[in-house]
Formats: sequence, C-alpha cells, structure tokens
Amino acid sequence: MPHDDSHDPTQLRSHRWFGPDDMRSFGHRSRLKGMGFDDIDYQNRPVIAILNTWSELNTCHSHFRDRADEVRRGILQSGGFPVEVPVMSLGEMMMKPTTMLYRNLLAMEVEEVLRCHPVDAAVLMGGCDKTVPAMLMGAISADIPSIFLPAGPMLKGRWKNETLGSGSDVWKYWDERVAGNLCDRDWNGIENCIARSAGTCMTMGTASTMACVTEAMGMSLGGAACVPAVFADHSRLATQTGRRAVQMAWQNLKPSDILTRQSIENAVVTSLAIGGSTNAIVHLIAIAGRLGVPLNLERFDELSRSTPVLGDLRPGGRFLMEDFYNAGGLPALLGRLSDLLDTQCMTVAGVSLGEQIESAEVIDDEVIRTRDNPVSPAGGTCLLTGNLAPNGCVIKSIAADPKLLSHRGPALVFDDYPQMKATLNDPDLDVTADSVLILRNAGPLGAPGFPEWGMLPIPKKLLQAGVRDMVRISDARMSGTSYGTCVLHIAPESAVGGPLALVETGDEIEIDVPNRRIHWHVSDDQIERRRAASPTVKPVPPRGYGHLYATHVTQADQGCDFDFLVGRSPGEEPGIH
Ligand code: FES
Repeated sequence: MPHDDSHDPTQLRSHRWFGPDDMRSFGHRSRLKGMGFDDIDYQNRPVIAILNTWSELNTCHSHFRDRADEVRRGILQSGGFPVEVPVMSLGEMMMKPTTMLYRNLLAMEVEEVLRCHPVDAAVLMGGCDKTVPAMLMGAISADIPSIFLPAGPMLKGRWKNETLGSGSDVWKYWDERVAGNLCDRDWNGIENCIARSAGTCMTMGTASTMACVTEAMGMSLGGAACVPAVFADHSRLATQTGRRAVQMAWQNLKPSDILTRQSIENAVVTSLAIGGSTNAIVHLIAIAGRLGVPLNLERFDELSRSTPVLGDLRPGGRFLMEDFYNAGGLPALLGRLSDLLDTQCMTVAGVSLGEQIESAEVIDDEVIRTRDNPVSPAGGTCLLTGNLAPNGCVIKSIAADPKLLSHRGPALVFDDYPQMKATLNDPDLDVTADSVLILRNAGPLGAPGFPEWGMLPIPKKLLQAGVRDMVRISDARMSGTSYGTCVLHIAPESAVGGPLALVETGDEIEIDVPNRRIHWHVSDDQIERRRAASPTVKPVPPRGYGHLYATHVTQADQGCDFDFLVGRSPGEEPGIH
C-alpha cells in the first residue's frame, strides 16, 4: 500500500542514485550537471520517466513529441524532475510480420528500463494496439508507480457523405473493389480521407479497447481513454497525467496497490460492454498473468453471459470513438454498469473507480445505450470449445452475421497465408457461401507471431455473387476493426499439433455459438490415423529474438506471454556500485 505522503526525499527510489556522499553518486550528479541541470532541478524531487513510444514509423503516435512536452509541463508544475526515455514503438501499420511478435519484447524493455534507472514514477505513453499491454505488463513486473497516457483516437474519417471508420471501412470497401463495384478514383478518395489526423484507429478496435480496459482497471485517469488525439483536451490530459505522476511517486502508489483480481475483472466486463476487440482477451490474460491473477477463457465466457453490450460502436455497432467521447465517454458507460463492477477498486488518481464514475453523465443514449435497450443483452464475444479447439477459441458474435452463428459446412483448407492469397481468387476455386474457410499455421508459433489474418477474405467469385460474410476459422487473431463470422485463436494451434493441423478439405465443420460449441465431424479413429501420418514439427528460428520467442511463448488461451515472465516478479532492486 502507499506508505509515504510526507515528501521525504530520502524515501524516493532515486535517492539511492543521487543522495549518498560517495563516488558513484558524485558521478550521477556531475553528469546531470554536464547536461545543464543545477542541483535545484533534480535534488529532493521525484524523477519521473516519460516512456515515449514515439516513432516516425508509428503513424498513430505522431503527436507524441508534443504530448511528451505537455507531460513534462505537468511534472514540472508538481515539482518533479522529468526525463524522457524513448522505448521501442510498435506501429501496427508498418511492422511485419506482426506487432504481436514484439509485444513481449517491449514489455521486457519497459520492465528493465524502469528497474535499472533512477525512476520514482513513470508516465507510459502508448496507444497503438500492442504498446498498451506491453507497457502495462512491463510496469506491473517492475512494480514502480506508473500511469498510462493513451494516444487517443484519430478524428473520424469522411468521404463524400460517408463517415469512415479505421480498418472496418477498409475491409468493406476493398470487398466492393474486388467485386468490381468501386472505381480507382473512389478508392483513391477513400485512401485520402480515412486517416485524417494523428491518433489511433477510431473504431472500437484493439487500441480503443485497450485504452478503455486500462482506464477501467485503474491505470489511467478517469475519462482518458476516449479523448481524441488532436483535441486540446488531449493536451490537457497529458499535463494532468504528468502532474499526477509526481503525486504517485511521493505516495509510492504502485501497480500492485491498484491491480487486483477485481480490477482485472472490471476490465474484462468493460471490454465486453463496449463490444471490444477479441485481442483484449489475449492481452488481459497476459496482464493478469504478470499479477499472478488467474484468468482464463471460461471466466471471460461467464462474464460475457452476464454483461450487456452498451457501446454502440463500430465494428459491432454504428458509432466511432469521437461520438463515444461526445456521448460522455467511458466513465458514463461504466456508470450504467456499476452493479457489474467492483467499484471499490483503486485507481491511479488515488480515488476508487466508484468515485471516478459517480458523477459521469450520459449525453447520448444512441451511442451509450441504456440497460433496457442494449446493443446485445449479453454474449457479445463468446468462447467455443470442441474437438477442433480443445483449449478453446473465440468469436465476436456481435460483429458476425446472426444467420451464421449456427452453421455446418464443408471445410476449404489453406495451409498458410501465402497459399490462401495465391488461390483464393481463382475463378475455379471449389467454394460456396456454405463453405467453411480454414487457415492454419497462423498462430503464435506457426506464422510466427500470431498475426491478424483471422478475417480471411471472401473469395472473389463469391463477392461478385453478393456474398459478404461466411464462416472462417483459424488459429490467427483478427484486427479489432474487423468483423464477420470469424472463429479465432484456436488453441492449441496447428503448429504445435492442434487438431486444426489435421483438417482436410471437405471435412464437415459445425459451429453452434448459442451452445458455445465447435465440432469437426470426423471420427476419433480417423483423427488418430491422420495424426500418425503427419508428425508435428514446431518451427524454432536458430538465433536472436525469434529463437527466444519460439522457445518461450505460450498459447493463445494462456495470453502468449513468455513462460518465464508469468507471475509476480520479486522486483529485486539493482545494486549501485
Ligand atoms: Fe495504430 Fe490501429 S494502426 S491503432
């Protein structure tokens, strides 16, 4: 628990670096002086690290240079010593094969950067999908006071009379282009209009979902998740966050004082109530794992059965993040769910979640639905189990065609993404709207890195015939901005011998979402014969980070963290010699 509100500088962690009258501390102080700082700049002040994931290759964080200065202003106002520390940026758009391959690398970097430096508290500047869980995971393991500043969503896209949503409208209009319904000029017009500012995807994709669950678990200021990136409100949020970080340092308010099983479950309920990204499931299991809090897919499904979807947000609903902000934002939505939350949980603001949301007001019932008029009364995201996914898989049912939620059809199997890409648009492809498209070797190890390939494209001949959704099954993830009847995260994955590796084209596959089942209509004997004929070879790169990843990453149902990072860290302080 917080133990020091007396502003005693000898209690600060950084005092070990700067306080003693010895040769090492002389070295630390003299080098700060070499940077132009006087004693008054840093002595008796908490050192606040601004961990900045700015990069010119991360389009969503292009405003973070300015925001870092605004955080710095808040730190100075409250009497702290700000130090900006760049850390790895994970920009969804440019990184290949997938940012998910590197989530754990950033998490390790954050943990070690915090631990090895004279840091009393940290502002974690992230936003684009994996930067959020990575920074939280690292801060939890370092267990140094930390507050998250989300990048905020970009402005709404606009093309002709259409409001465009990140990702979701790319998939939608690409289908129309493949079907021959969209000319070059219109396609180019959409390209010019869909990303109109700095900030993260403004649909309820993974970035927005993770920003919301971070706020709900208490790791960012109330209302932070929805503030659009380029609004003046976002600059003020940055400064407020800097000010609060200084107070957290004096109070020694650490992640372990804030995050509990209850706060993690508040985050799960929130992700379900906003119709959030399926990726949040993987990330929240990993975050809970760092805390030593058990969280599994069964618990997600239990909470899903009792949580209404109140956020009418794309891709599962109609509106975008700017609308959500104008409607009252996350505090207003949580206010409508307070009976499903543990409102006693602590937040970085030093108040309980209940205190944080008690005065929130819903401005627009269309965007934030009432309890008696939800987007869905429950079950917005569901866990399925069966002989094709012994350890589970997930489907975002609110973003699927309801007619396909109970479906049986013949499998059309693709061994990997390149094969799928090469054959999907073949006019002779033997496929109908009833087929079940299967993609394997797309999981944590198989791809590698667990890419967002799970929204398999509809074959061209079916698009031209007017088909816009069909059942797709894979061991991949899908973008939080994606939609369709996509069964994801099959565990165990095909690359480690999961049943998906043995499915053959023509096998009958059945999904029954109301009863949470997925079934592969092939006898156990037949499965065993196929398994004996195709031994599993787990791919392990011979060197580097890829080797570390392939040797230690866990499966989707376990959060894909490295096995040696799960559980509470002993938090051993470095010696200063
Ligand atoms: Fe960065 Fe979507 S690409 S949040």
